[in-house]
Amino acid sequence: MYLSPADEAMLAGEQGETRQKMLEIIVALGKVFGADRLVPIKSAQVSGASYKTIGEYGLLWLASLDARAVVPAVLNPIGMPRGRWQEMGVDPAFAEKQQAVVAAYARLGVRLDCTCTPYYLYQTGYGDHLAWSESSAVSYVNSVIGARTNREGGPSALAAAIVGKTACYGLHLEENRHPGIVIDVDADTRDWSIAHYGALGYHAGKLAGNRIPYFRGISPDNDRLKALGAAMAATGAVALYHVEGVTPDAKKNGYDCTGLETITVEAGEIERLFVEIPVDAVAVGCPHCSPAELEAVDRLLRGKTVKKPLYVFAAQGVIDANRSRVEAIERSGARVYADTCMVVSPVMEKYSAIMVNSGKALAYVPDMCGAVARIGTIEDCIAVATS
Ligand code: F3S
Repeated sequence: MYLSPADEAMLAGEQGETRQKMLEIIVALGKVFGADRLVPIKSAQVSGASYKTIGEYGLLWLASLDARAVVPAVLNPIGMPRGRWQEMGVDPAFAEKQQAVVAAYARLGVRLDCTCTPYYLYQTGYGDHLAWSESSAVSYVNSVIGARTNREGGPSALAAAIVGKTACYGLHLEENRHPGIVIDVDADTRDWSIAHYGALGYHAGKLAGNRIPYFRGISPDNDRLKALGAAMAATGAVALYHVEGVTPDAKKNGYDCTGLETITVEAGEIERLFVEIPVDAVAVGCPHCSPAELEAVDRLLRGKTVKKPLYVFAAQGVIDANRSRVEAIERSGARVYADTCMVVSPVMEKYSAIMVNSGKALAYVPDMCGAVARIGTIEDCIAVATS
C-alpha cells in the first residue's frame, strides 16, 4: 500500500504513540481488504459510545489514547441523555461510567453530538469520503447522499478521525458500489408510512444479506429512505442500497441489472409484520427523528395526554432548532431525549414490550432490551401511548 512520507513518519512514531497505533489500525485493515492507498476523509462518526456496549475494557482503551481528531468527528448515541439522565431513571453508577466514556472522547476531540443522524447537523455531500460507523448513518450517507464510507468499527472510525484518512477499499471505490440483487416491490406504496418502509427494510435486509440491493417500484422520501436503510443494516449487512429513479447513484449511473437475482416483495409480506400486541412503552426516533418527524409527533399529540411512557429520540441540535415543538410534545407527558435511544439506553430494559415505528428497532429491541417489539405507524404509536 502506498503511504506518503508524512504517513511513513507517523507510522514510525514521529507524531506520538497514539497516532502511530491509529495508523497501524488503518494500514492493517487496508492490507486485509486489498487497499492500495489511503484516502483523506471529510468527517468521522464514531460508534462504541454507550458504556452499555463498550464496558470497562473499552473505557480503559479510550483513556489510554493521547491525540486529537484532525477532521470533524461526531459521537454515536450513548446510554443516557447527558443533561437529563436522572429524570430518565438512569442508575447513577452507570451514569458515572458513561460520563467517563464521554469525557474520554471529548479529550480526543470528538464532538459530543451523540447522534446517529449527524447529516442533519453537518454538511455532507455527494462523493465525500468519510469514516462513519453507525450502520444506519452509514447506509444513509452512502445511499441517500451518495457519500463514500465503509461501515467502520468504532476503533477504526476513531483511528481515521485522528489520522484524517482511511484505507481506500470497499465502498470508497466506484466498482464496488454496483447492485448485487434486485428487489421489486409489487405493492401500492403511495400511502406507505415510515414504519412500512422500516418493515420493508426489515424484510429486505434478510433477503439481501451482504449484497447491495437495487429497489424498483417504490418512491420514498428521505425519512422513508432513512427507515428503509436503517432496518436493512440491522437484519442484513447492507451499507449501501439504490432505489431506481430516486437515490443519487441510481439516477447518475442508471445501473444495468441484467442477470442479477431478482426477488419480488408483495404487500402482504410487509403487512404481516404489523402485529397488534399489548405494550408497556412506546418509543420513536430510530434513527433519531428528523424535523419533519418531530412535527408529526407534535401534530398527533396535540390536545392529548400520554398514558403510557412515550419516548422520542433526536439529536440535540435538531431538538434545539425545534424547541417550541419539543416543548409542546413534552406538555403531553412524552419525553424528547437527546444523546441516546431505545436500543442503547439501559433504562429501556425495564419494559417487557415496546412499540416502535422503526424496522431497525423491531430487529434490535428484543436482543438489546430483552423486550418484545411491536412495529406500528407513528399514528398508531401515538394512539397506543395516549389510550
Ligand atoms: Fe440510532 Fe439507536 Fe436506532 S443509534 S439507528 S436510534 S438503534
